[in-house]
Amino acid sequence: MNREAVKLMDAESSVRAFISESAHLSELPAAQTVWQRHAKFYESKGITGENSTSLEDCLMLYLLIRHFDRRRVFEIGTNVGTTSVIMNQAVKKNGGTCTTCDPVDYGALPADSGIRFIHAESDTALARLKAEHSTIDFAFFDWVPDKRTLNLANELFDDDAVIAVHDYRLDPKGQAIVDIVNLHYRQRGRWFFPEAPVQLADEIRVNICTAFFVPNQLLTGRRETSLERLKRGLSVLLHPRMTASHFKRTAIQSIRRM
Ligand SMILES: C[S@@+](CC[C@H](N)C(=O)[O-])C[C@H]1O[C@@H](n2cnc3c(N)ncnc32)[C@H](O)[C@@H]1O
Repeated sequence: MNREAVKLMDAESSVRAFISESAHLSELPAAQTVWQRHAKFYESKGITGENSTSLEDCLMLYLLIRHFDRRRVFEIGTNVGTTSVIMNQAVKKNGGTCTTCDPVDYGALPADSGIRFIHAESDTALARLKAEHSTIDFAFFDWVPDKRTLNLANELFDDDAVIAVHDYRLDPKGQAIVDIVNLHYRQRGRWFFPEAPVQLADEIRVNICTAFFVPNQLLTGRRETSLERLKRGLSVLLHPRMTASHFKRTAIQSIRRM
């Protein structure tokens, strides 16, 4: 497979610079149209999409998948499929595929999209992919993964897998996801946290609350050392709010909000 299109990222880059300098900005109007068309599609089925993802965050996912030339996308939390549809649009352009999972089937994925839906929780979905010898190079976590999911991620995810997380700063869920990834995911790399949305031409804005982890393999400049990785995990573990009950509470709160 030709991976010449894979671009690296400067470890010191701001998210704003990453977005503004993207080689794929001209594709965003088409991605926006796909987002709008999908909203009409699920609304026509009487689904409100109230827990679905903003256009701004979908465009962030789109740019990440295109920039890093990702081929095997995995999502936790399909819901009405907004992010699945946009990520699928991006990964298909790279010649890859998108798999998404949710214990609830909202029946809102277009039948002809080619998106693979696994009607199960993330640990079961990853166990199934493992049995099929699949690998993953881009993951989007729109739900707090449990430890079993992250243990499987350590086995299935490519060393250079990029992980994106939704609702960072907007909802305790985003921080809980980052924390549990820091605790259990073994790769070294750097988190990039959302800044103010980036306003582009044509009224298009990118990124409200999507954080992303870029592994050392895809970074230029100063990379995270093993000691720093250890400190990152320990700081979560030693933080008073980081107890098992915190994770449980956060997940329950998120469920209640739905
Ligand atoms: C915020 S919504 C996802 C929104 C979706 N990404 C979109 O853009 O439409 C979170 C979803 O996670 C699902 N979920 C809950 N527990 C899960 C688990 N263990 N594994 C996978 N998905 C889960 C919920 O059913 C819910 O549909």
